[in-house]
Amino acid sequence: MTAPLVFVLSGPNLDRLGTREPEVYGSDTLDDVHSAVSREAGALGLLADCRQTNHEGEMIDWLHEAVDAGADVVINPGAWTHYSYAVRDACAIVTTSGRSLVEVHLSNPAAREEFRQTSVVAPVATGTVAGFGLQSYLLALRALV
Ligand code: DQA
Repeated sequence: MTAPLVFVLSGPNLDRLGTREPEVYGSDTLDDVHSAVSREAGALGLLADCRQTNHEGEMIDWLHEAVDAGADVVINPGAWTHYSYAVRDACAIVTTSGRSLVEVHLSNPAAREEFRQTSVVAPVATGTVAGFGLQSYLLALRALV
């Protein structure tokens, strides 16, 4: 039997991890995140497909692809979290199709600027993990099993 597939999707500016505001997001690069995710997924009996985009339409296409592939999703929507109804609607397509979707954040947006304290994704997500750096992604994988 093949391992269940999980899409691990990261949104805008997360390709700059490691050098982008390290005091907020830590010094791990996105490659470090993807390596740790792939390792943890393997240990949990999952197969992770890790991707990052700065383009909203591409993210939406990937969420549709996850539905068609019957994959669960771990998503860090970056700043789209706070205002993108299009990303939110695509996330809702995942969860209403019966798949799980975990919203993750490296930082704890609830403890930051006011505009970050709203997530338009959270109401359609299965759950949220925030504030644990790279570990947020790994905890989200654990939540899926
Ligand atoms: C983030 C939090 C967002 O507010 C921000 O726009 C990001 C990263 C996080 O992982 O902490 O790009 O999603």
